[in-house]
Amino acid sequence: MHPRVLLQNRKPGRIATMDEYRQSGGYQALEKAFVKNDPSPGDIREILLEARLLGRGGAGFPIGKKMATVPEDAPHPRYLVCNADEMEPGTFKDRVLIHADPHQLIEGIVLAARAIEAEIAVIFIRREYENAARILEREIQIARDAGFAGKNILGSGRDCELVVHRSAGRYICGEGTALINALEGKRANPRRPPPYPTTRGLWQLPTEVQNVETLCCVPHVLNNGAQWFQSLALTDSGAGTKVFSVSGKVNNPGCFELPMGVRLSELIEEHAGGMIPGSRFKACMPGGASTRLMPESMYHVRLDYGDMKEKGYRLGTGAVMVFDHKTCLVQVAVNLMTFFARESCGWCTPCREGLPYILDLLNRIEAGQGRAEYIEIIRKMCGHMKYSFCAFAPGAAAPVQGLIENFHEEVTAHIENQRCPFQDGQAGGDNAGSHH
Ligand SMILES: Cc1cc2nc3c(=O)[nH]c(=O)nc-3n(C[C@H](O)[C@H](O)[C@H](O)COP(=O)(O)O)c2cc1C
Ligand code: SF4
Repeated sequence: MHPRVLLQNRKPGRIATMDEYRQSGGYQALEKAFVKNDPSPGDIREILLEARLLGRGGAGFPIGKKMATVPEDAPHPRYLVCNADEMEPGTFKDRVLIHADPHQLIEGIVLAARAIEAEIAVIFIRREYENAARILEREIQIARDAGFAGKNILGSGRDCELVVHRSAGRYICGEGTALINALEGKRANPRRPPPYPTTRGLWQLPTEVQNVETLCCVPHVLNNGAQWFQSLALTDSGAGTKVFSVSGKVNNPGCFELPMGVRLSELIEEHAGGMIPGSRFKACMPGGASTRLMPESMYHVRLDYGDMKEKGYRLGTGAVMVFDHKTCLVQVAVNLMTFFARESCGWCTPCREGLPYILDLLNRIEAGQGRAEYIEIIRKMCGHMKYSFCAFAPGAAAPVQGLIENFHEEVTAHIENQRCPFQDGQAGGDNAGSHH
């Protein structure tokens, strides 16, 4: 059995109360930090850095490093933004974390705010997560009444006001700098750093944007120490646990908290219930829609930011979408690209014009009207995405790049036979994969 940390208070069909959270050690770190100033804000930043807590929202950037970029003499008020936008297709871990144990997130936010001496925290939440937003509003009031949030926390003379803000509802609003524009009521296109948000963010004031899961880790790191957090992982490059959202052709889709570095095969077979009857593993997206399609040869890969990067993949949000031998991967790419082409904010040309172009070529291939030269054009167009303004476009190109590199034969079969080989339900043939 692997230890559960972030989901230790998860119970079917109910939300952990503040008392239940406190019984599991909740709000102890906050009490120490605010009442005794031990750890001090500087200590919190150091501990998080030493713990190697990497951001869980997709990019895997160390939280301690980001905090260190807030200048000592930066003006006030400062802002801590909790990114709960979660519009990355396949990803649903942040929703589960909020529903399971909202006070864990509230404590994590207040502690992270303390680390950079921010007095205002905003939870930027996807508007479809109305239930989660209401849970947070209710539980924030409970935390406030108990002295854990709001004005004069636990009599320390320090404040941290928490505000829940519902997103206007586009995928790009989750990008850290576009989110800041959205909060200011502007069009949600990204800002190009420098200046970075930690120096000039919301209303030109220091702003730290962190993902829900990253913030949920903070109280545990402070309670148990950096070494403990590192020891939870199965690989040296990672630390802590990871909440994986698994969907697709498995018997038991859902959220599973496992040590960072767990093997993909273990996640699928021992936790997600294995492949559904009659299905064999063919491919997966390892970390949400903006990661490269991963082939069967990577079935035993360790799911971790460092190990996967070495092999040319990204852990992203840890949202594993599993495809079987009967699934047409060109159709998968069409589906994802339809989403990306629609969600482009339109600010820069490679993304705004390139994604619909790639989508058109993929649609033609899927419809049996593709030509051999399309593959090279798609490859080139995907390469151009790195010249775009933000990480959205390279992310949108990633699954298609994985398709062209790892499933070349499947794409050419569409072109040579002038039809989708999966059309008649015979998909994949008998030698398409070996796992179940
Ligand atoms: C198009 C796009 C959408 C994003 N959506 C989210 C999101 O919904 N939630 C999130 O935490 N990060 C999202 N990110 C990543 C954020 O820009 C940022 O890196 C993250 O919120 C930082 O928190 P972390 O370091 O704790 O992961 C997105 C990035 C891009 C390019
Ligand atoms: S890459 Fe796409 S989403 Fe990002 S700024 Fe350019 S048009 Fe907007």
